[in-house]
Amino acid sequence: MTPSKTKKETKPEWRHFNFVTNGPVDDYLYSMLPKRDEVLAEMEAYAGLHKVPIVGPAVARVLQQLALMTGARTVFELGSAIGYSTIWWAQAVGEKGRVIYTDGDSRNAERARGYFERAGVSDRITIHTGDALEFLSEQKQQFDIIFNDVDKEDYPRVLRLVSPRLRKGGLFITDNVLWSGRVAERSPREAATKAILEFNRLLYGSADFYTTILPIRDGLAVALKR
Ligand SMILES: C[S@@+](CC[C@H](N)C(=O)[O-])C[C@H]1O[C@@H](n2cnc3c(N)ncnc32)[C@H](O)[C@@H]1O
Repeated sequence: MTPSKTKKETKPEWRHFNFVTNGPVDDYLYSMLPKRDEVLAEMEAYAGLHKVPIVGPAVARVLQQLALMTGARTVFELGSAIGYSTIWWAQAVGEKGRVIYTDGDSRNAERARGYFERAGVSDRITIHTGDALEFLSEQKQQFDIIFNDVDKEDYPRVLRLVSPRLRKGGLFITDNVLWSGRVAERSPREAATKAILEFNRLLYGSADFYTTILPIRDGLAVALKR
């Protein structure tokens, strides 16, 4: 086994998506992050061990910063898994804020519920188990932030649902939009890559949004609703 291989294997799953800033720069960025509290640290360890694809602390910090910068009080999250990103949102929206957790897997939701209680944020979070897109389509209110982290094939469909349910000045944020660099392939064949390419094209072309992609970890699209 080569030394570099040994080093890679000690990284948790969610860090394997770093392809823009890999190696020493990536290690440096992660070394700068403040220590997480006990519950978040435990979730990161669990996600690493069980290959749960969480955003990880570098991206989670951006999410929380964006919520704090915009004074967000309501967040709708599509694809929450064990609730790691949900907790970062819940901390940002404050005691009077509201975060909607959605996941199709009820075992994820049960695990998330336990973490929310231990993190002291369960009263700010509504847990919804089932199809996130369907639940979003039923929403009558407009949110401050909509965060998209579901199956990638569904990204174009998510985009079609978002605009009427996001307030003007609100943020539509989407993870994995660089898809480990596969968006730059000459002739992509994978369905997920094609869907992300279509999504990025539609998002940048939309008159409803002002969009940039932050090349952090696996690429984070931040779109401001005009
Ligand atoms: C990448 S993980 C979410 C990670 C989470 N945002 C975090 O960073 O902590 C994606 C999750 O979305 C869920 N999912 C995918 N498609 C979905 C859908 N259409 N409706 C609800 N959940 C979905 C999967 O079960 C999976 O747990």
